[in-house]
Amino acid sequence: MSTAKFITFEGVDGAGKSTHLDWFANVLRQRGIDLLVTREPGGTQLGERLREILLNQPMHAETEALLMFAARREHVEQVIRPALQRGTWVISDRFSDASFAYQGGGRGVPVAKLEQLEQWVHGDIQPDLTLLFDIPIEIARQRLSNNASLDRFEQEQGEFFERVRQAYLSRAAKTPHRFAVIHAEKSMDEVKQDLAKIVASL
Ligand code: TYD
Repeated sequence: MSTAKFITFEGVDGAGKSTHLDWFANVLRQRGIDLLVTREPGGTQLGERLREILLNQPMHAETEALLMFAARREHVEQVIRPALQRGTWVISDRFSDASFAYQGGGRGVPVAKLEQLEQWVHGDIQPDLTLLFDIPIEIARQRLSNNASLDRFEQEQGEFFERVRQAYLSRAAKTPHRFAVIHAEKSMDEVKQDLAKIVASL
């Protein structure tokens, strides 16, 4: 059995997760860990094409959920599972918790349907650790407004993101052993200190 770990980064848009992901990955690499960084939607050729569509093309909420999980199936089979099997750690910028938060909480797709897809697409693989960057929505929105071009999700209203945030938090509460909730409104340095403790625990 490989001991390679599968770690995911989650949070509402504007929480700062991608910046911290880069730092976290570098720290692990400096410690000599063989590591692959990937993202969702995306991470494969097909997945990146689906990402283009998902971020730009309006569609029914359930179509959106199905395409997210279709991209994920490709990602799991082409990238994540093979990496873990050969002993390479995987860090993914988002995974299924994002579907429960955005399509479930944000768009109202029934959780039972998402659970069926989750079971189908990666019934035997779950992240070993999920870092949830939690932040009050007003602050996340302020950070986003500095960005020039916003995608279809980032253009949603504050209430949408409140629902996304709550769905993430309830998912974390259901499986606390898998989640580390990071208070992302703190300064960069304070967040890094929290992340350094997590690295040490790994
Ligand atoms: P994001 O990581 O925010 O990309 P970037 O930092 O480049 O903007 O991901 C893109 C969007 O996709 C994000 O708004 C959340 C959304 N998303 C879902 O709605 N469901 C999912 O299952 C995934 C993986 C992402």
